[in-house]
Amino acid sequence: MYTQALDLPDNAAAKAAAPASHEAGPMARFEACIDADGRIEPQDWMPEAYRKTLVRQISQHAHSEIIGMQPEGNWISRAPSLKRKAILIAKVQDEGGHGLYLYSAAETLGTSRDQMLDGLHTGRAKYSSIFNYPTLNWADVGVIGWLVDGAAIMNQIPLCRCSYGPYARAMIRICKEESFHQRQGYEALLTMMQGTPAQRALVQDAVNRWWWPVLAMFGPPDADSLHSGQSMRWGIKRISNDDLRQRFVDATVPQAKVLGVSLPDPDLTWNEERQHHDYGAIDWDEFWSTVNGNGPCNRERLATRVKAHNDGQWVRDAALAHAEKQQRRAMKEAA
Ligand code: 3HC
Repeated sequence: MYTQALDLPDNAAAKAAAPASHEAGPMARFEACIDADGRIEPQDWMPEAYRKTLVRQISQHAHSEIIGMQPEGNWISRAPSLKRKAILIAKVQDEGGHGLYLYSAAETLGTSRDQMLDGLHTGRAKYSSIFNYPTLNWADVGVIGWLVDGAAIMNQIPLCRCSYGPYARAMIRICKEESFHQRQGYEALLTMMQGTPAQRALVQDAVNRWWWPVLAMFGPPDADSLHSGQSMRWGIKRISNDDLRQRFVDATVPQAKVLGVSLPDPDLTWNEERQHHDYGAIDWDEFWSTVNGNGPCNRERLATRVKAHNDGQWVRDAALAHAEKQQRRAMKEAA
């Protein structure tokens, strides 16, 4: 539904275009590779600022996937049917998997998963604002699939063409799974909209609550986006925050019509001249307050995450003890 052109660059050609090592320093080779739309791999030289930007973005992304398991996870035990429960379990599990691919991608840049988790648990690292909103009823689960995962795909398809190889490759599988997540959410809402007036009212209420936080999820307006300019020059980000937000609005309006819900924005209109929808002002004070730890569920989300990590210590200890035992046995057999 959100598929954009996925032309992957010809990396061999891009690397061949970079000046040979005896002709240029590492910075010139790095820049030539970026200019030729090539991929930077873990063993390649890269400027520290490029590495730092990637670790910041990938760790923030990984944490979003892991924290994002919570708002929907709390509905697994209350899903309305066995089919919905099975779908939801698979989806929440997928999000956990996405977090793990992304932590692995960041590890190739020299930052360990423990370091990244420490950043999350001590509140130093960010995760997406959107996961600090509550899921009050079953329709919220469908709306997260339709709108939150829909927005995530819009943002993440271009990351399949990110200049850093391990991140780009992780995003290909993630986007395929997110596409399924988006469709299952939309289908669950279509089912509810064919139900009783009370069910339709639940869907509309959930759409009203999630619409604006979802638009804010794309990040601050381009004019206020600290990192966009440099990240786009490096081919980490391919499309700006505002352009992605516009694409999302344009894609979502017809879907809302098919579903039979209204979007809670009196200023939402088709602009013939721009060939895009105009939309109302986003409450950036609310966004920054949420990003800075004061959204409706920030404290609860972080506390739940830290508790889960601490409760899982014995599993990590047991896995390590098992691995050490296996290694000792293998060494003894080899001796
Ligand atoms: N929530 C929290 N913080 C946000 C944010 C959001 N929605 N949008 C921007 N920010 C933060 C940035 O991280 C940055 O803070 P920092 O300097 O401390 O890192 C600051 O606001 C300024 O924003 P910029 O636009 O300058 O930052 P970026 O250039 O990094 O762009 C981004 C922000 C578009 C979110 C980009 O980082 C990105 O594309 N990240 C990868 C995708 C991602 O992380 N998505 C999160 C959702 S994942 C998800 O939804 C899971 C799925 O299962 C649904």
